[in-house]
Amino acid sequence: MALNIVVTREIHADALKLIHPLGDLRVWTEDRPIPPRTLQDWIADATACLTMLTDRVDESLLAKASSLRIVSNMAVGYDNFDLKAATRRGVMMTNTPDVLTEATAELTWALILAVMRNVLSAHRDLLEGQWRTWSPTGFLGTELSGKTVGIVGFGRIGQAVGRRAQAFNMSVVVLSRGGGGDMNQIPRRLPLNEFLSTADVISLHMPLLPATRAMVDASWFSAMKPGTFLINTARGPLIDEEALMTALDRGIVAGAGLDVFSHEPVDGTHPLAAHPRVLSTPHIGSATHETRRAMAIRAAENIRQALIGGTPRDLLNPQVCQK
Ligand code: DGY
Repeated sequence: MALNIVVTREIHADALKLIHPLGDLRVWTEDRPIPPRTLQDWIADATACLTMLTDRVDESLLAKASSLRIVSNMAVGYDNFDLKAATRRGVMMTNTPDVLTEATAELTWALILAVMRNVLSAHRDLLEGQWRTWSPTGFLGTELSGKTVGIVGFGRIGQAVGRRAQAFNMSVVVLSRGGGGDMNQIPRRLPLNEFLSTADVISLHMPLLPATRAMVDASWFSAMKPGTFLINTARGPLIDEEALMTALDRGIVAGAGLDVFSHEPVDGTHPLAAHPRVLSTPHIGSATHETRRAMAIRAAENIRQALIGGTPRDLLNPQVCQK
């Protein structure tokens, strides 16, 4: 019997070529996420499904998919998955780590630079005719050199962000999960209060989990140095957005670079995205030609490995293979 493979968005042709010989492909080609009802219909007789972070894969979807062997997310984050439900049902779940590390670190620095040096507002002012002459006090930003970047979540992407700090003559501190700081480690790991009172710019790189949801809340803002910058290229719900609005209005947060939001997409009517001291981008951390091709290939490769009877390289729930 032919294997049915569902792909929920148009992806790089080199990735489709990898899975095409394995079965009948069904690709959602519209330029918007596949509607959940359509995905339910399509997945009913699918053996494999290549998903995006916009597709919710939960118990109710998995219950419709009796032949499903693997769901392969084209993203490193997989907060759109109910991993426990998939494991109970013996469905392999995979993601695409590594391949988007450098692209996401690059965007993080683009936001740090642009926010601290007021690049966007200077551009806007110029277009509006505000550049009347060179001014000793005009368009002033904050110098990066000599400042400290604080990294929350020191995994692959957090480390890639940290590596680039040296190029800007910045120090790096990392939030120590254990609470205790070890001053002899490089970069310095600091407990929360010390971390928040040390960092000039804080960049988030942790996954969205029940324990990290709204982790950046009013208590964080009250412990930050006034004038701290905040960057989020990870997941929107890590930040309590209302508390961030208040912190921006009070000047505790001098500026924020946000690539992600609690409910996506957002537009110019979103108070935080449109705040004059927020630079907002539409979840483009991994959006380079090179990385999106690599992510698609990695996701397709995980499906290929599962369907030829192997263990996918990026298996998130190895328990299913031990059953
Ligand atoms: C991911 O992979 O989790 C990013 O958010 C999108 O590339």
